[in-house]
Amino acid sequence: MTSVPKAFSSVEKGSDPVMDRLGVLISGRGSNLQAIIDAIQAGRLRARIAVVISNRAAAPGLARAAAAGIETVVLSHRAEASRVVYDHALVRALKDRGVTLVCLAGFMRLLGAVFCDAFPNAILNVHPSLLPAFPGVDAQRQALDAGVAISGATVHFVTPELDAGPIILQAAVPVQAADTLESLSARILEQEHQILPEAIQLVLDGRCYIDRGQVVIR
Ligand code: GRF
Repeated sequence: MTSVPKAFSSVEKGSDPVMDRLGVLISGRGSNLQAIIDAIQAGRLRARIAVVISNRAAAPGLARAAAAGIETVVLSHRAEASRVVYDHALVRALKDRGVTLVCLAGFMRLLGAVFCDAFPNAILNVHPSLLPAFPGVDAQRQALDAGVAISGATVHFVTPELDAGPIILQAAVPVQAADTLESLSARILEQEHQILPEAIQLVLDGRCYIDRGQVVIR
């Protein structure tokens, strides 16, 4: 599938600014992917999605991409012998499509140095906690179990260390006494949908630089 989404059809080929070709990596539902698509279509994010790649063929997010006319690729990690081989395959799929900025939107695999070195300071991840608190899986459950009063969402640059790269944007979400995993996750997700497109635009505008391991926003 390589059709051009309607919203972008008036943009001439070759007129992209240097970094505006996004590759979005997903594993599941794809609501953050949808937030990126919606922000582009609403003109809040000046970018285009060159490809959506999933490591799971059954990821519902693939249908969201297809509905927006975006090319989809399934690259199953099970088919590859090792992380290094898988990372090389991912890099190739993205570079072949001219991707300059990679967004991990619910991509449930750790990426190694091979991948990170191929896109220096050009991989973003969205995570459902105020990092460095609660990295890894089940961040919302971790927050409830810890009894914190405030959790939230983070968008950060990706490094080979899990959920540990320089932080670009965060949004706080108060934890309520009556919160369940579902209710807290839903309020955090709303914030993810806000800050992910915002962070992408900041990076595309060249407004983020990294100084001694921390992001400075101009
Ligand atoms: C989000 O909570 C994201 O922060 C986490 O996985 C979830 C993916 O949700 N990494 P979706 O697939 O974008 O709906």
